[in-house]
Amino acid sequence: MAKDPLIQMLADPERTPIRGALPVVTVRPDDEPGYIDAVRRVESERFELERRGREHGTVVELLRPDLSPKLDSRQMQASWKAADPFVIRDATVTCDDATAMLPEGWAASTDEQARWEKWIVEHASEALRCTDAFSDPDRDIAKALCEGRGAWAKLGRLSTADGDASRRLVFGVGEEVRDDDHPSAQRHAEVWAWACSLLPALEVSWPDRLRKCLSGASGRPLSPSNPIVYWNRPNGGALFHHDALPGYLPVDDGESAEPPPSGQRGVVYVQGAGSTVWLALSIQQLAARCCEFMRDVVDGGAPWLFDSWVKASVWQPLFFATREVGPCLRALARSDAGPLRPLVHGCLEFTGFLVDSGHAAVLRAGDAIALPNHGLERTAMHSVYCGSSGPNVGFSIGLR
Ligand SMILES: [Fe+2]
Repeated sequence: MAKDPLIQMLADPERTPIRGALPVVTVRPDDEPGYIDAVRRVESERFELERRGREHGTVVELLRPDLSPKLDSRQMQASWKAADPFVIRDATVTCDDATAMLPEGWAASTDEQARWEKWIVEHASEALRCTDAFSDPDRDIAKALCEGRGAWAKLGRLSTADGDASRRLVFGVGEEVRDDDHPSAQRHAEVWAWACSLLPALEVSWPDRLRKCLSGASGRPLSPSNPIVYWNRPNGGALFHHDALPGYLPVDDGESAEPPPSGQRGVVYVQGAGSTVWLALSIQQLAARCCEFMRDVVDGGAPWLFDSWVKASVWQPLFFATREVGPCLRALARSDAGPLRPLVHGCLEFTGFLVDSGHAAVLRAGDAIALPNHGLERTAMHSVYCGSSGPNVGFSIGLR
């Protein structure tokens, strides 16, 4: 009897799924009918991935909870240590009231800056000063400084791409960029409290249960910091990146780093409403996957990619950066992915390869994904797509 091609694929030892997430696979028009049928029989939900005007293929989440048992604390500790992302389904209560409190109406309105400034001034109990001195003038929309709390908050775009109406609201300590990794836990706590006073839904996204769970995984008590609220819209999302802040030192002792002077030990993203589709894996795994995929291209697989990269004059740097894992790791550690940009940011075939290798997950309201960080050489890389056509809200919480 012929084997089910889907079962074969899910059982492939080369496939290393994100722990805690339901399996996600690609579906392509030229797939065998047997595979397409097998997927359909266990299909949970189908997503057409599109980001910033570029199609990234069709993916299907499978109703195979037997393949994604709930993680125990020992598994979470092992994942944390390796900087492997993991999913905690139903991590928080889903509270319609909480998400309804979010000022969703800012995004994509014509007078966003004025409306946001009015909202924050009316809702903050402290004196604020609104400013046009933006650190990222292309994407920043509005910013307010709160001297009483030693804090700032800003509303911004995720990208300048046409048709991407995604927004984010970022909170930080002291002076933006300079103090993002400020060593004072007290000052981060002050900003967190301020953000929660403005957005009660943020506090709902960090229940005691989740705090205990992640503290247990990391082996130390974790506190929330650097909150960001995301409104991911169709065609929006985030390119592959890590959340390691400057100031980290690489460690090779295999133990959890003590990044001086303080350090963000990771991030947890909690889905508040709607859904997002994630690609997430450790930087070491991603470097190995880049090299593996490129070896296949060098051997003649996907010749159209070779042709298009030669034509775009990106083939040589991409080839040299992916011959070995070392240079690949260094390129991924850069904020712009350096010579790997054409591969990790916009290559449909590479996205599909990562999905079928197990590195994709779907998050719905109440789900969380943990993104551990031990410095630039051992951190969680992640890339996000909008998974819903309606309201989509998520909370990114820095962990210290
Ligand atoms: Fe991130």
